[in-house]
Amino acid sequence: MSNIIAVANQKGGVGKTTTTINLSACLAEKGMKVLTIDVDPQGNTTSGLGIDRSKVENSIYQLLIDECSIEQCMYKSIVENLFVLPSDVNLAGAEIELIGIENKEYILKDKVEPIKDLFDYIIIDCPPSLNILTVNAMTTANSILVPIQCEYYALEGLSQLIHTINLVKERLNEKLEIEGVVFTMFDARTNLSLQVVENVRSNLNQNIYNAIVPRNVRLAEAPSHGLPISMYDPKSAGADAYRDLADEILRQDGYEQAIEPADVPVDKPKKAKKQAKEKKTDSKKKKKFPHF
Ligand SMILES: Nc1ncnc2c1ncn2[C@@H]1O[C@H](COP(=O)(O)OP(=O)(O)OP(=O)(O)O)[C@@H](O)[C@H]1O
Ligand SMILES: [Mg+2]
Repeated sequence: MSNIIAVANQKGGVGKTTTTINLSACLAEKGMKVLTIDVDPQGNTTSGLGIDRSKVENSIYQLLIDECSIEQCMYKSIVENLFVLPSDVNLAGAEIELIGIENKEYILKDKVEPIKDLFDYIIIDCPPSLNILTVNAMTTANSILVPIQCEYYALEGLSQLIHTINLVKERLNEKLEIEGVVFTMFDARTNLSLQVVENVRSNLNQNIYNAIVPRNVRLAEAPSHGLPISMYDPKSAGADAYRDLADEILRQDGYEQAIEPADVPVDKPKKAKKQAKEKKTDSKKKKKFPHF
């Protein structure tokens, strides 16, 4: 069974896209089969994973308005084992275009359902608002990862986000949980960053990851090269942090040990015996798609 994680925070510029790109890449490099879904019209996750948006024939926009199948809009990324459903600027009009469509909160979920078990992880990058695209991400996901920027107003808007997640859980997706909170853009030179971390840790009753993403210029540069940090500068502090985050998530999901990429050219980290057995049976059902 795949773990479907939506990376959400309606606050802009907190590191959702950076986290989606680099967490997806690190999980794939650790042997997981990953699908990244870019539902943000800005499309930065798509280009940040090495996909030339001008060459994308079918995007998630065509998928949502039923003009293509999910297989037709699934693309290989620059990272092995990592596939992408790319975004489209036309998604910006989705709120209006989807008016009147029945069950519009579940369009993405229904599209993803038949292929979800082909992947170990599906990571969805949300736009900076609580609109219909974010709701679609939240009905598709089983958990939400919330990046929090280490700045003065870090907690601003968080109660609204948690309220929305609870509403979606209550009315649309009872399985939805908060996967955890990850601090981003931590600046060790300032007291402010430390204070924010302490303040959030003592006031927020949620799982908070030990991995803290530092402010690191290499993380900001990597997307312009169409590369995740693990390929652009694998030795940077940013790459270390996202590898640590991937390790924590893998452990949380019951994988016995998270192994450094160099140690796992093909094999996945070992999971509990029973789950491994289940996976084996599942994999027999797996089909191959044209872009794979
Ligand atoms: N840890 C970091 N260190 C340095 N720069 C970072 C870091 N994380 C993100 N950035 C930069 O900060 C900006 C915002 O990050 P990002 O696009 O990931 O946020 P976002 O939450 O997805 O934004 P939006 O709400 O617009 O979708 C980008 O220019 C990104 O390169
Ligand atoms: Mg973004």
